[in-house]
Amino acid sequence: MTRKILVTSALPYANGAIHLGHLVEYIQTDIWTRFQKMRGHECWFVCADDTHGTPIMLRAEKEGLTPEQLIARVHAEHSRDFAGFHVAFDNYYTTHSDETRHYSEDIYGKLKAAGLIEVRSIEQYYDPAKQMFLPDRFIKGECPKCGAKDQYGDACESCGAAYAPTELKNPYSAVSGAQPVLKSSDHYFFKLSDPRCQEYLRHATREVCKAQPEAINKLQEWLGEPGENKLTDWDISRDAPYFGFEIPGAPGKFFYVWLDAPIGYMGSFKNFCTKKGLDFDAFWGKGSAAELYHFIGKDILYFHALFWPAELEHAGYRTPTSVFAHGFLTVDGAKMSKSRGTFITAESYLTQGLNPEWLRYYFAAKLNGTMEDIDLNLDDFVSRVNSDLIGKYINIASRAAGFIAKRFGGTLLHAHLNERFHADLPGIADAAEEIAGHYEARDTARALRRVMALADQVNQYVDKHQPWALAKQEGQEARLHEVCSVLINAFRLLTIYLKPVLPKLAQRAEEFLNVAPLHWADAGHLLPPAHLINTYEHLMQRIDPKQIEALIAANRESLAPVTVAITVSPAPTVADQHSPQRHAQHQQATEDKMQTQTDQPHISIDDFGKIDLRIARIADAQHVEGADKLIRLTLDLGADGTRNVFAGIKSAYDPAQLVGRLTVMVANLAPRKMKFGLSEGMVLAASDSDGKSPGLFLLSPDSGAQPGMRVK
Ligand code: MSP
Ligand code: ZN
Repeated sequence: MTRKILVTSALPYANGAIHLGHLVEYIQTDIWTRFQKMRGHECWFVCADDTHGTPIMLRAEKEGLTPEQLIARVHAEHSRDFAGFHVAFDNYYTTHSDETRHYSEDIYGKLKAAGLIEVRSIEQYYDPAKQMFLPDRFIKGECPKCGAKDQYGDACESCGAAYAPTELKNPYSAVSGAQPVLKSSDHYFFKLSDPRCQEYLRHATREVCKAQPEAINKLQEWLGEPGENKLTDWDISRDAPYFGFEIPGAPGKFFYVWLDAPIGYMGSFKNFCTKKGLDFDAFWGKGSAAELYHFIGKDILYFHALFWPAELEHAGYRTPTSVFAHGFLTVDGAKMSKSRGTFITAESYLTQGLNPEWLRYYFAAKLNGTMEDIDLNLDDFVSRVNSDLIGKYINIASRAAGFIAKRFGGTLLHAHLNERFHADLPGIADAAEEIAGHYEARDTARALRRVMALADQVNQYVDKHQPWALAKQEGQEARLHEVCSVLINAFRLLTIYLKPVLPKLAQRAEEFLNVAPLHWADAGHLLPPAHLINTYEHLMQRIDPKQIEALIAANRESLAPVTVAITVSPAPTVADQHSPQRHAQHQQATEDKMQTQTDQPHISIDDFGKIDLRIARIADAQHVEGADKLIRLTLDLGADGTRNVFAGIKSAYDPAQLVGRLTVMVANLAPRKMKFGLSEGMVLAASDSDGKSPGLFLLSPDSGAQPGMRVK
């Protein structure tokens, strides 16, 4: 029976580069959908960029772009990276679309009509300088529990405590540096505490997580015991300024990004249906017979297993058949790290010339359909890919192909091929359904173990019959033909089993085998007698450990010594999203520049042009607790917004005397992590060569200069 299956991967945020952690998910989903397609099912795989929200709005502002420009650029980058790893979406769209707006308004309207939306006034931190409400992650201060400085508004990275932003000591806005004030405003809530939602969630969402007992446990924890009303209403609105969809009938209020993000699955599919002439309702309508699966990371289970099904249910749509959550990627047993060079972007992996199918294979060999974290052990990566793919699988074709070409004109055995094959290698064809079962259950680790065990059998057969020896013996021509024909058929079957994981390699194998694209059902028969194959060309290179070293080096962010005392700190949550390359380029430019200063008397005008010097107005200046050299400056760059600055000028200036004056800053210095936060630039001051006494003199422009003006 042909199944109708719609599959999604989580929508990546449109403000960061795709990295190997993301790829765990997209590769896993791609393998599963390719498998379903090979089985002959009607299976569609859609995704999109998740484009709304405060971080994206601020990131665009910081880069001097409109949010639309930023998300268009990132969409192109993401599409390129996914294609590079052979992640074959049927549609890769954006949540900033008419379709997603339509379904967001539609679902909201239906929830409202059902009495499940409530408006309530809440009090929140507001940035008076930037004139916006601050998400928790954009409020920083001292941890109320351990006193650690520069902690986020929701949790302390030092002691792990979780708290409300209002509990932070000495809070400041990570956007402007200003002290936030409490302000109230109306918010829209989805009433999850309503008995209808509680009732529904208690019974139905368990169904959505049925494939994963660990997920069921989590749900149990969130929902509490029957009668225990643990779920609170969900705040689905944000106040302007916000990049998103304005809520109908609520001017100045926008849908919170997590409201429209999953609706982006519908938006992307609707867009695809329009292009393809498919029936959207057959997949999303209530009572639809199609299957709907969301692949996600364990960090976003809450949204997918609780909010999302509850929204769909009460807005009259079908709910997901299942949510499949996976764990997080670690590299060599630790969290990905920029300083260690293990925060590896998809782009750098590809530009370093590494084969994407090596990674696909390795991830697949580790993924088992549970929520366990998966580790990319770099030594194991090299040895496993080399021994499994090249040593076991490719080896089979390379052993047999030459003899078939040279001795038998490229044709396989003319008769009795079937009998020969099944007598010599029993079980290889029979394993097809078992392996399919493992793929279906997303236990690719098990599927690949089975395939490699079969490859071992085939290699034992090679060792036993030694085609290279047969080739030298008189009168063994027929035997050699048999053995090599058996091997080519075994290789073809293994290719079928590996194809969901290694689509490009399989395609090249198909060319070599001279066959049409292989489907799963093709495992039910062998190549026809006297089949003509093409010349063998080497199918895959081994990994050279040096390539891994180069990859790590390319992603490593060296923490250059701090040579300037005066630095600018950007909004850290935004800076955290900087792609390592971008950062590395800045770093490189800075290092080059310093090199130039010491080694060469001149720089070119182009070198000078790399420095973005701007007029800045000091909007605010504060002492920094615990720092004896620094003053925190809030710099106003006019249309380019404000920046938070730590300046090493405490010895020469009193904060109060600085407020209001103009100075000059370097606006494009690479962000650099310092004790008091991330920094990315400097204000300019003169001093004698050792930078000590008798003073420090902040630069000032002539009167008439305006904040934000370029200095050239
Ligand atoms: N935009 C949201 C998802 C909205 S879905 C309606 C989001 N984006 S994300 O870019 O942060 O992550 C996208 C997916 O990649 C998530 O499923 C997330 O769990 C996964 N991963 C991100 N980093 C990861 C690892 N280091 N390891 C494994 N998966 C990771 O969340
Ligand atoms: Zn703490």
